Amino acid sequence: MAITITIANEKGGVGKTTTAVNLAAGLALRLINRAGAASRVLLVDMDPQGHALLATAFDRSQQRHPASLASLLTETPPPSAQRLIQKSEHHPNLFYIPSDHSEMIHAARELPSLMANETRLQRALASVQSDYAYIIIDTPPTTGDLLINALVAANLVIVPVETSYLGVSGLIELQRTIEQVQTHFRPDLKILGYLPTLCEEQRVEAQEILAELQQRYKKLILPPIHKASDLAYAHSSHMDVFSYRPPRVRTSENIASSSRATHEYADLVETVMQKTQPKP
Ligand SMILES: Nc1ncnc2c1ncn2[C@@H]1O[C@H](COP(=O)(O)OP(=O)(O)OP(=O)(O)O)[C@@H](O)[C@H]1O
Ligand SMILES: [Mg+2]
Repeated sequence: MAITITIANEKGGVGKTTTAVNLAAGLALRLINRAGAASRVLLVDMDPQGHALLATAFDRSQQRHPASLASLLTETPPPSAQRLIQKSEHHPNLFYIPSDHSEMIHAARELPSLMANETRLQRALASVQSDYAYIIIDTPPTTGDLLINALVAANLVIVPVETSYLGVSGLIELQRTIEQVQTHFRPDLKILGYLPTLCEEQRVEAQEILAELQQRYKKLILPPIHKASDLAYAHSSHMDVFSYRPPRVRTSENIASSSRATHEYADLVETVMQKTQPKP
């Protein structure tokens, strides 16, 4: 059964999509030599925002997909999830379910009036759970049914937190949403960690906020991701940073290059693997 990790924060522009894409790609690189389902990673794009990277990240042809995630969420009976899955251009063992901007906006409007509207993604993914080691879900910067579906479908949540005062103050609402999901649907849902993002070393403010986060969330604070032009350029080139800045020689053990951003996301990948793989 796949370990499903949702990347969530209701605040916009905090690095959710960047984290989802690079975590999924990094996991795929680390697992490439494993057999069958143990090597495969699925990325699910729940973000109806136009600049959600995933829909185009791996599909340069920009053709419209015959069906997207929205139909999984709203149609009764839903189409087979298997049929929606596309293959990444950069990694043979990375797959994704694209979303379409206008269809997802429509789905978000329609969902509240549909029966069992909170569990639709969970049920749709149930049929592909055994085909993947990890399923990573990117979410929109809003509360509502799309976020709730993504949380109900998950075992674990990673919360990217922009290291600014505003970034920290918005977390209470997300925690309430997670508690609601735990109470009503998933008592086993856990926060894997808070990921400080867009850190700027030279700013005193960022240091103070990191210290505050560490005091508040202790062991749940993941190693931070600094602001890096490689991440912004990779994003605008519709690539993950490991493909954008590849090392000269890559092994499944060592996926980082000379780019610091690849080291930082590789550290996140290691932490996620350590926290989720059964101990030998
Ligand atoms: N560590 C980083 N260094 C530099 N740029 C970054 C970093 N993380 C994200 N960005 C850039 O910041 C912008 C917002 O990032 P991203 O799209 O990942 O955030 P998001 O939380 O998914 O946003 P939204 O809530 O709108 O979906 C993007 O242009 C991205 O390239
Ligand atoms: Mg996003």
